[in-house]
Amino acid sequence: MSFQTEIVKWYLINKRTLPWRDTTDAYVIWLSEIILQQTRVEQGLPYFNSFLQNYPTVVDFANASETQILKLWQGLGYYSRGRNMLFTARQVMDLHSGIFPVKYEELIQLKGVGEYTAAAISSFSANESRAVLDGNVFRVLSRYFGIGTAINSTEGKKQFNELAQELIEGQEPSLYNQAIMEFGALQCKPKSPDCGSCPVQSGCYAKNKDQVGLLPLKLKK
Ligand code: ADE
Repeated sequence: MSFQTEIVKWYLINKRTLPWRDTTDAYVIWLSEIILQQTRVEQGLPYFNSFLQNYPTVVDFANASETQILKLWQGLGYYSRGRNMLFTARQVMDLHSGIFPVKYEELIQLKGVGEYTAAAISSFSANESRAVLDGNVFRVLSRYFGIGTAINSTEGKKQFNELAQELIEGQEPSLYNQAIMEFGALQCKPKSPDCGSCPVQSGCYAKNKDQVGLLPLKLKK
C-alpha cells in the first residue's frame, strides 16, 4: 500500500470529529483555518462556534464592526487576525459580491490568506488538488522521506512543496490533506511519537535510521 493510501486509511479510523470537516462552505473553512493559526483545536473550537453562530455568512461578518469582532475574539490572542478577517470579509463583498471564492488563485489574493490557507480552502471546499503544507505536514514528510533540508529555508520550502504536490496527485485532495494533517497532529507528534503503533513505520526513514528526534530540521534565524 502506498504512503498516501496508508495515511488515508489511518485517518478514516482515527480522525477527530470536528465541525469544519462536515462542510464545503468556503467561508466556514476560512473561519476555522484563521482561528486555528497559532491556536490549538481545543482552544479554538468554542471561538469557531461562537463566530459561526453570530455571523453565519461572510455577509454577516463583513457587516460587523471591529469592536464586535474583537469582543468575540477576546482571549484568543494575536488580535491582528481578527482585524484582518474583517478586512478580508469586506474584500469578499467588494471583489466577489459576497460569495467566498473557492479557487486557489483567487483566495491567495485576499488579505491574510497565504499559501497554506489558500490550499486548505480550495481543497476542502472545491476539492482542488493543492497540497497543504503546515507544521504537521513538514514533520511527517521530513521524517518519512528523510528530508534534512531546513523547513524554514528557501530551498527547503521548495523541496517540501514539490514533494507534497507530487503526493497529492491522484488522491482525493480534501480527504488526503485532512488525513496528513491529522496524522501529524495525532500520530507523528513533535515529541516522543509512538512509532510502535504507526502504520507507516516500516517505510519511515527517521524511524529506521533512529532520527525521529532530529527531524524536521529548523534553522534558528
Ligand atoms: N489545524 C488547522 N487546520 C486544521 C484542520 N482543518 N483540522 C484540524 N486541525 C487543523
